[in-house]
Amino acid sequence: MKKFIYILSASCLLWAASCGSSSDIPVYLDDSKPIEERVEDALARMTFDEKIAMIHAQSKFSSPGVPRLGIPEVWCTDGPHGIREEVFWDKWKGAGWTNDHCMAFPALTCLAATWDPAMSAIYGKAIGEEARYRNKNVLLGPGVNIYRTPFNGRNFEYMGEDPYLASKMVVPYVQEVQNIGVASCVKHYALNNQEFARHDVNVEVSDRALYEIYLPAFKAAVQEGGAWSIMGSYNLYQNEHCCHNKRLLVDILRGEWGFDGAVISDWGGVEDTHEALNNGLDLEFGTWTDGLATNAGGSDAYNNYYMAEPLKRYIAEGKGDAALVDEKVRNILRLIFRTTMNRERPYGSFATEEHAKVSRTIAENGIVLLKNDNNVLPIAPESVNKILVVGENADYKMTKGGGSSSLKVKYEVKPLEALVALYGEEKIQYMKGYSQKDDEKVESLAELRKAATEADAVLFIGGLNKRKHQDSEGRDREDFALPYGQDAVIEALCEANPRTAVVIVSGNAVAMPWIEKANAVVQGWYLGSEAGNALANVLSGKVNPSGKLPFTYYASLDQCGAHTFGEESYPGVTDGELAPGQVRPRYQQRYAEDIFVGYRWTDINNCEPTFPFGHGLSYTTFEYSDLKLNTTSMKESGKITASLEVTNTGNCYGGEIVQLYIGDDESTVERPVRELKGFKKVFLQPGCRAVVEFEIDRSALAYFDAEKHDWATEKGTFTAYAGASSRDLRSKAQFELK
Ligand code: BGC
Repeated sequence: MKKFIYILSASCLLWAASCGSSSDIPVYLDDSKPIEERVEDALARMTFDEKIAMIHAQSKFSSPGVPRLGIPEVWCTDGPHGIREEVFWDKWKGAGWTNDHCMAFPALTCLAATWDPAMSAIYGKAIGEEARYRNKNVLLGPGVNIYRTPFNGRNFEYMGEDPYLASKMVVPYVQEVQNIGVASCVKHYALNNQEFARHDVNVEVSDRALYEIYLPAFKAAVQEGGAWSIMGSYNLYQNEHCCHNKRLLVDILRGEWGFDGAVISDWGGVEDTHEALNNGLDLEFGTWTDGLATNAGGSDAYNNYYMAEPLKRYIAEGKGDAALVDEKVRNILRLIFRTTMNRERPYGSFATEEHAKVSRTIAENGIVLLKNDNNVLPIAPESVNKILVVGENADYKMTKGGGSSSLKVKYEVKPLEALVALYGEEKIQYMKGYSQKDDEKVESLAELRKAATEADAVLFIGGLNKRKHQDSEGRDREDFALPYGQDAVIEALCEANPRTAVVIVSGNAVAMPWIEKANAVVQGWYLGSEAGNALANVLSGKVNPSGKLPFTYYASLDQCGAHTFGEESYPGVTDGELAPGQVRPRYQQRYAEDIFVGYRWTDINNCEPTFPFGHGLSYTTFEYSDLKLNTTSMKESGKITASLEVTNTGNCYGGEIVQLYIGDDESTVERPVRELKGFKKVFLQPGCRAVVEFEIDRSALAYFDAEKHDWATEKGTFTAYAGASSRDLRSKAQFELK
């Protein structure tokens, strides 16, 4: 008994000595204290070496915490469509875990095509929960680079061509991910609008285009979404790589927007120790992404990162200021306190049925019905005995491939599987029609024609496929046309059977030389784990499509501003010379179309795209009343209210996205004909109507005055347009700004 008392009191003493009473636990561990106090306290306890360790990676996706102080590591994960599989510590290769099969959500172009911030919110919540379950505290996404050219291999990871739409869609995603205690790392900041020469292209862009087009979605993610981290991009701007770019990171991100999160480099995006120290980067990842060997001599050489031993030497030689290292550590500590060291954060969940439902709902809401003459769609199961399905993408999994967003999924339903399940095996005949493999024998056009004639309806399911140059990271597309001879197949099918629907699976617009012959066309996107089910539900009419295009579907490449000014504008030009210290030649690129990106370009140039920005049909019809403006509130609140009624005049339940565009009628500066400044998605039963209201404030009328470096509005008349797309304008009303 005596012995027991002795042991007990000894351990109590030990406890008292190490922890003290609850009132004197270290400040950095005390969640009742403000984060800034905790940050300063932790920083004050760290050695210089611990600080240096914290600002660069220790493995492919993690960076060290402070083991001595119990401050946890940072663990990142791709992003943005699902949680990437575990890779080896020091290799890109999958580690072969058996518990990391995730739920794949639709690609971000599809999310943008829902035009529904509520969809962004459920997306963010679900993917945040998946990241949390897998013990990641930084989700590398979402991406909000603007769709400047349909050649960009990564457009599918972004939210389209319009800064207003992308801004509204990114905010709920970021907020909901972070509500789970996982930091959203918004990428790729900034001007990363192509994959060609992505590490070497120096973008020259006017301040006006920068502020009006390329920055707003990042700004919204930071200021409205409260993003806790942001990823610098590979390319250069003002001859500095964007991962350590003074203007973008120090002046704009922190200076103008007040960002207090962590700036994380893209993997292998750091190129210089001096710039990395001085120009706003906090955390270096992926240097020499081939496994670090280039400069470092072997793998596991994280000490040779620009912000590791080289930075220590740089500071020791008196060339750099150690206080800048403290700044970086503060930003990373803040990130850690907000995520892993937040004891209140919820738990996650992984690949659940609920997440499957979220994934399918977003997919169903984002699919766009582009054309539907003679009501080819929907194809009700009872209306057909035989459907001919043609196209490789009907029987191909799309969650793999495309680069860093490639996923190891719990499952993926292919379109063909879902069609068979929905219509019954006996009703579906499948022919591949074309193949990505040159040597694979497929049916002849004559065979396809014959089968199409004999079928009640034909579904062609093709497009791109995330292979090299077909919507993939690291490489742009090389052709606006569909690959593998698909055009001839589509044409043959449409000629043989007028009840043919063409489904394009892609994240980019493609040329449609057969558009006059095709009665029905659907934009299918990369839809995630539930791809097939979502598509089959829309094609059969179980779900009424309600998505609209987040980008312009050019009829030909010369309708795209970026492609109008020669190679200097896309993809950039090089003299092939290597400047001292460079390993690859630089490309210079000028965004010559300036602010006229997407519909802003087709509008001022009066070109007819195949499908305009904002376009999308439904199985029902909607009628718009006149747009009414209430300008009396302008004086008091600085806002005008615009309202109209939308009525479902067709026969089925459906969703309509009402868009508000504003044009400045008299302006001393060149401005777009009109710009998106509001949108609302409403769902209505047949015969029902809804009042849709918008608020127009000064920001909706402003342009960026580069000389004054401020937003400016000019008095005079403006026109507000209510439209079902950027070209299908149903009603307009003028007002005057005095
Ligand atoms: C991509 C990023 C990605 C990172 C990590 C880079 O190559 O550009 O978007 O998050 O790799 O996989």
